Amino acid sequence: MTRPIEVVIHRSALHHNYQVIKQRAAGARALAVIKANAYGHGIEQVVAALPAADGFALLEMPAALRLRAMGVTQPILLLEGAFSPAELQLCAEHDLWLAIHEPQHLEWLTQTTLVRPVQVFVKLNTGMNRLGFAAEQASAVVAQLQQLPNVAGITLMTHFATADDPAVGVTAQWARFQQGTAGLGLPVSLANSAATFAYPQVHGDWVRPGIALYGSSPLADQSAKSLGLVAAMTLRAKIISTQQLQAGDSVGYGATFTADRPMRIGTVACGYADGYPRHAPTGTPVLVAGQRSRLLGRVSMDMLCVDLTAIDAAGIGSEVELWGQTLSIDEVAASAGTIGYELMCAVAPRVPMRVE
Ligand SMILES: Cc1ncc(COP(=O)(O)O)c(C=O)c1O
Repeated sequence: MTRPIEVVIHRSALHHNYQVIKQRAAGARALAVIKANAYGHGIEQVVAALPAADGFALLEMPAALRLRAMGVTQPILLLEGAFSPAELQLCAEHDLWLAIHEPQHLEWLTQTTLVRPVQVFVKLNTGMNRLGFAAEQASAVVAQLQQLPNVAGITLMTHFATADDPAVGVTAQWARFQQGTAGLGLPVSLANSAATFAYPQVHGDWVRPGIALYGSSPLADQSAKSLGLVAAMTLRAKIISTQQLQAGDSVGYGATFTADRPMRIGTVACGYADGYPRHAPTGTPVLVAGQRSRLLGRVSMDMLCVDLTAIDAAGIGSEVELWGQTLSIDEVAASAGTIGYELMCAVAPRVPMRVE
């Protein structure tokens, strides 16, 4: 028997979440964001689960080429654009759309003879201060692009820094975008998952949902369930040993948890080398044989320990859901001081993946 741990990807949840997003942004088309191996879900299976998606967005050229080789015909947008003139030529050859966010990109578009013109998304910096031309430069950049025979079409794009936080929202960034692009009459793409759910006024022509597709909540103050989203990933493992503790006995490296009464604990075949966060503290929720319990002590490389004291029926071979369709990844992430995005992306290649 192999080590009892697996990550299960739920195709029906991906399909369902995409439909929920489409209903929310009924007037827009939706680019499913599948960067970072589809947030750890496996790019091939996610794309296969969304045959009717309007398009995809990612930033790794090899993955984009793999999708074209699989026969994906929908638009594919490279969110960080080309990293060299040779990649720009690949975009033309394989009909990949690309973000333009640096003067260097304009130079490459001017100097390279492309086999066919490309669709570009002009990325405007409206306050995130990470990538993009200042919004005030939009007209000048667009005027330059409109002169270039290499450019087949232009969409204007920005990315929100605080759409997930109702206390801040998108107002300032959206105002800057509108001022900078007034009168240009071009299609726009602004909304990530949070903005798609919270701010219908910024849906524009193309929304770009990532995290919601995978069933984690994009909004700080609302659960995935309340938004109608279903987890697309379950990380589960089994108990491989049980131990009986007396008051005063400790658990794991650093002896950070000490029993104050007799307890029964289980050792689970999942550790930080599988992608479970090492910084998750004692008390982080886990689901043992369908019942909620808690992590005890430090997470090791290959194992972690859970409380079985109140779960008599649990023993060696019992199933433990670390996160998934019953135990929300957002709850585990909050306990570990991180976000669902990081947990999904961190599931290690050594964990066998099953698609159902
Ligand atoms: C430019 C861009 N658009 C859309 C997304 C999707 O964001 P989310 O996963 O929060 O929906 C990302 C992800 O970080 C991004 O970088």
